Amino acid sequence: MTNDNYVKIFDTTLRDGEQSPGATLTSAEKLEIARALARLGVDVIEAGFPAASPDDLEAVQQISKEIGNTKSGSAPIICGLARANKGDIDAAWEGVQHAQNPRIHTFLATSPIHMKYKLKMDPEEVVEKVKEMVAYAKQYCEDVEFSPEDAGRSDHDFLYLVLGEAIKAGATTLNIPDTVGYTTPKEFGALIEGIIEHTPGIENTILSVHCHDDLGLATANALAGIQAGARQAEVTINGIGERAGNTSLEEVVMAIRTRRQIYNLETGIDTTLLTRTSRMVSNYTGIVVQPNKAIVGANAFAHEAGIHQDGMLKNQNTYEIMEPAMVGLSNSKLVLGKHSGRHAFKAHLEEMGYDLSNDDLNISFKRFKDVADRKKVITDIDLEALIADQIAQPLEIYSLDGLQVSCGTMGLPTATVRLFGPDGELHVQAAVGTGPVDATFSAIDQIVDVPNTLLEFSVNAITEGIDAMGEVSVRLEAENGSIPKRKSPQSNFFQTRTFGGHGVDPDIIVACAKSYLSALNKLLLATGKFEESSIEFVKVA
Ligand code: KIV
Ligand code: ZN
Repeated sequence: MTNDNYVKIFDTTLRDGEQSPGATLTSAEKLEIARALARLGVDVIEAGFPAASPDDLEAVQQISKEIGNTKSGSAPIICGLARANKGDIDAAWEGVQHAQNPRIHTFLATSPIHMKYKLKMDPEEVVEKVKEMVAYAKQYCEDVEFSPEDAGRSDHDFLYLVLGEAIKAGATTLNIPDTVGYTTPKEFGALIEGIIEHTPGIENTILSVHCHDDLGLATANALAGIQAGARQAEVTINGIGERAGNTSLEEVVMAIRTRRQIYNLETGIDTTLLTRTSRMVSNYTGIVVQPNKAIVGANAFAHEAGIHQDGMLKNQNTYEIMEPAMVGLSNSKLVLGKHSGRHAFKAHLEEMGYDLSNDDLNISFKRFKDVADRKKVITDIDLEALIADQIAQPLEIYSLDGLQVSCGTMGLPTATVRLFGPDGELHVQAAVGTGPVDATFSAIDQIVDVPNTLLEFSVNAITEGIDAMGEVSVRLEAENGSIPKRKSPQSNFFQTRTFGGHGVDPDIIVACAKSYLSALNKLLLATGKFEESSIEFVKVA
């Protein structure tokens, strides 16, 4: 184990995070998130579970090639998850082999309940399997991580034995998962201390923590493990993940940074990119961040109470332990306006870290102009939403060409929509509804004709003011089982796939239509009935 003060940040948003109900991401979205994670400075990106499906494998391969390779030599490690079997390990290697720094992460459960009921294996068989599979992974890859699943409920002596054997077989990182979020901080810290004290060979490896939030203790447990000597934290953006989620990246990183005297540790994260990354993940997954979420919630830096505002005006430190700018919350106004040229626009995007192709730049410039015509002040946050929304937009099988709505207290709410279809034709449909959104969705449904259930619908104003950009997220589920379900790596259950959509526009009903269409497009893509080559692809601004 290294004794330095650096904590590696292992981000598993694209693997454990993507296992959250409803977080299905397209390949383009996964690639954009991986790019954002690299920009953020994470040390390891767990890009997926390649054995899950050919699509998952392909996404990991793409991330390995495009994000896992840089000329400057500081590419993040790209990691693929594998159960402890040869097929999974072969697939994981296929996924990560093209990265500059590939890692295979294999796992096997060690708790009595998992061994008996899930694996139906004796402890001796588990030890043998770990030895065999870590060695199997090692012949492909120097960097092998092993996790004893459900370590939080495993017998400690058995854990020391399994981990010791994994180290002998070649594991370089030992990750300790509290898979079901059962432990308390004191317990988890003691578990890490015990492992350091009793596991042979642990001094030459990195010890890692991976906590789930079932009791709301994931961050506290991860930090307790780090204080006890772990030097890698497995985390997700916004804490997304199965059930109650994983330890949230932003909480661990900001705790280490804000309470430096306590932890005396550092990470490589550029914290000024936390807000942007959080928003991107929320937009693409359709999982809305709760307003009071630490660090990245909309209210995390809002001071409503008069007594707080009074204190803040006298001295910001009275009620604020972190400066908003530290996490990338600033009110920076875009100095570009509706008369700005393409060159200045491109330069500004580059400053924000976007390197768009000519085609994408043309589209985003047109969208920017369109919004600038209608909205007086455009902030970086507005721009970020517009760009992020556009570059990872799934293939637009149907795209919005026009929308007209009439609503109010007189007459029936009515919407007329015009969509470009996959046949290259324009489709026009009008519908009435209980309100303008219902009418719009109903008109879209009549054209797209894919039975679905709307699970979640949320509307937000991105910035302040009467002309704020509206941001809409929806989540829906296919009806009739038309979408193949996907197997979870940790159980034999198949997950129902739900699809998130996101849309932004100064006109809130237009944002609703865009967001609904983006979810429907993902659903249609997942049916496998649409190939890119078979679509008359019309990118609309
Ligand atoms: O929670 C867990 O146990 C996991 C393992 C695969 C590391 O996600
Ligand atoms: Zn997990």
